[in-house]
Amino acid sequence: MTTRIIGTGRCLPETVVTNDYLSTIMDTSDEWISSRTGIKERRIVKNETTASMSAEAARQAMEDAGVTAEEIDLIIVGTLTGDYITPSTACEVQAAIGAVNAMAFDVNAACTGFIVALNTAHLYIQAGIYRTALVIGAETLSKIMDWNDRSTCVLFGDGAGAAIVRSNEKGIMSFVQGADGAKGLSLACKDRANNNPLVQNPKDLNYTAMNGQEVYKFAVTKVPECIHQVLEDANLTTDDIKYFILHQANIRIINSVAKRLKVSEDKFPISLDHCGNVSAASVPILLDEVNKNGLLQKGDKIVISGFGGGLTWGADIIEW
Ligand code: ACO
Repeated sequence: MTTRIIGTGRCLPETVVTNDYLSTIMDTSDEWISSRTGIKERRIVKNETTASMSAEAARQAMEDAGVTAEEIDLIIVGTLTGDYITPSTACEVQAAIGAVNAMAFDVNAACTGFIVALNTAHLYIQAGIYRTALVIGAETLSKIMDWNDRSTCVLFGDGAGAAIVRSNEKGIMSFVQGADGAKGLSLACKDRANNNPLVQNPKDLNYTAMNGQEVYKFAVTKVPECIHQVLEDANLTTDDIKYFILHQANIRIINSVAKRLKVSEDKFPISLDHCGNVSAASVPILLDEVNKNGLLQKGDKIVISGFGGGLTWGADIIEW
């Protein structure tokens, strides 16, 4: 037995922020952003929260799967931008959708968050502990951006994607995941500093900082490497794969991965043009777009892959 995705959903904030709008509030341009990244616009929250977007994506995934809230045994949210340090976003979602029988917790593996959440649910399911899980990737990255730093804030967006997964004979065929903490500071956002009666630190607000070129080099070598590994483990080749659904960081990374794998760019669906980089939410949002556009038939094999902060990476092969 393995774990199958039986329904998907997504929720994006209402407000669209275009490159042209950004160029009215900072020294940037649509030309700079789109030529280097492929991003044309992103959604940014006004009233939405990580939990509210997660719950809406979850409701859609439940409807798509034909599963009730009571049937869900486990909720895992991949996020680094929850609304609270505690309770977890997963516990907020549990309350919002009424999944009273579910255990709920978050994982933080940055842009690999949905992949790690999915694999964690898969292992619980394979172990026979749970049967049905709700797996979510959700972010409100706009709140950890320095809106005076044009080199980072133009890249990211907000949103959530969800999948209902269940024990089945078909589904996840292989997965790999890994981390290299020694390179962690190439993409980082610091939390509060130590602050207690013995040590006082200034209450600085900390924002995301990135060494873009280092992250680029990491992504274009590690992603093809881990995709080759999952293909080998499943005894498949790139020809067997219908779509490669990658974390949507940057069109240049995706095109370079396609080239290194010797696969046509047509097999790499894109959402970064209208969503920007939504970290853990990128993969499930794109997966839902592909699913709802009717592009997947039963039996199709797809690769999903995430990579980013940590540094972390992961990939799965899934039979639809
Ligand atoms: N608008 C206009 N100019 C800008 C902007 C902007 N938004 N941001 C930076 N610049 C300027 C810089 O100030 C610099 O100017 P200077 O030469 O006068 O000093 C110039 O553009 C080049 O800056 P770089 O940071 O060197 O830009 P680079 O060509 O490396 O492109 C980018 C930046 C697109 C982020 C690139 O490094 C990249 O593709 N990195 C891959 C990693 C990535 O996409 N990360 C996203 C998140 S990570 C993840 O999800 C895994």
